[in-house]
Amino acid sequence: MRLRRTALAVLPVLVAAIACAPADEKEDSDASAASCDKGDLPLTQEGTLTIGTDSPAFSPWFVDEDPTSGEGFESAVAYAVAKELGFTAEEVTWVTVPFNTSFAPGEKNFDFDINQISITDERKQVVDFSDGYYSASQAVVALEGSPVSEVTTVAELADFNLGAQTATTSLKAIRDVVKPKDEPAVFEDTVAAKNALLNGQTDAILADLPTAFYISAAEIPGSKVVGQFQPETGDQEEFGMLFEKGSELVPCVDDALATLTDDGTLAEIEQKWLSDVVDVPELQ
Ligand code: ARG
Repeated sequence: MRLRRTALAVLPVLVAAIACAPADEKEDSDASAASCDKGDLPLTQEGTLTIGTDSPAFSPWFVDEDPTSGEGFESAVAYAVAKELGFTAEEVTWVTVPFNTSFAPGEKNFDFDINQISITDERKQVVDFSDGYYSASQAVVALEGSPVSEVTTVAELADFNLGAQTATTSLKAIRDVVKPKDEPAVFEDTVAAKNALLNGQTDAILADLPTAFYISAAEIPGSKVVGQFQPETGDQEEFGMLFEKGSELVPCVDDALATLTDDGTLAEIEQKWLSDVVDVPELQ
């Protein structure tokens, strides 16, 4: 069934190609087509939407380290977008993409990557992003009762030892916004961050708010989310799906996201998976 459809879909393209062949000119039909019909999408692997994320895929973005379940905010968003593009759940394939390499330049083995990747100007030089699907605050996790757990302003944070995962916007927020007296601690992942906090090597760690919530609730007993703040002055920090530079899939995913925003699906998914983070105090 799928084969037959593919063959049928290819036929007009072949005819068009032959018709255009002598002139060997840029096929204008192609440029104007930029169609988001499933059969026209430029996919890395035919017949399947290939989506990247890191392993382990952690909560609340994914559940039980399984991106294929549709459970967790980003898994749910990914499948909702896939559905809008015309793919059934069976037609979605996941590949593991380490966070740190996701925004490196070059060819990608996925159609898009969804992994709490913030849209930044620096990353946009070498990869493309969809429109934002979530506005992320930075949040501070510290041990209950520690001096840093009492802070109410970003400025006060500067007196403490702070840490964050390498290459993240959290680390950048420490360096550029908090500007602490001490050099920040840089961690490979949340396991390393957790150990540093428990050992007292670092006073507090920064992470995206929902991640911080999860770290505090599930990973570091006796810790709390001290507060949240928006690191960017002006524009809010947003997560986007990441694409190989120049991917023609971007406008199609943006259309899908616009539909999911307009019909309330995106808000529903956020409500279902991320509603517990709304009470965290804002650091002034
Ligand atoms: N949103 C932050 C950034 O883009 C951190 C993302 C960390 N994601 C992860 N899967 N470890 O820099």
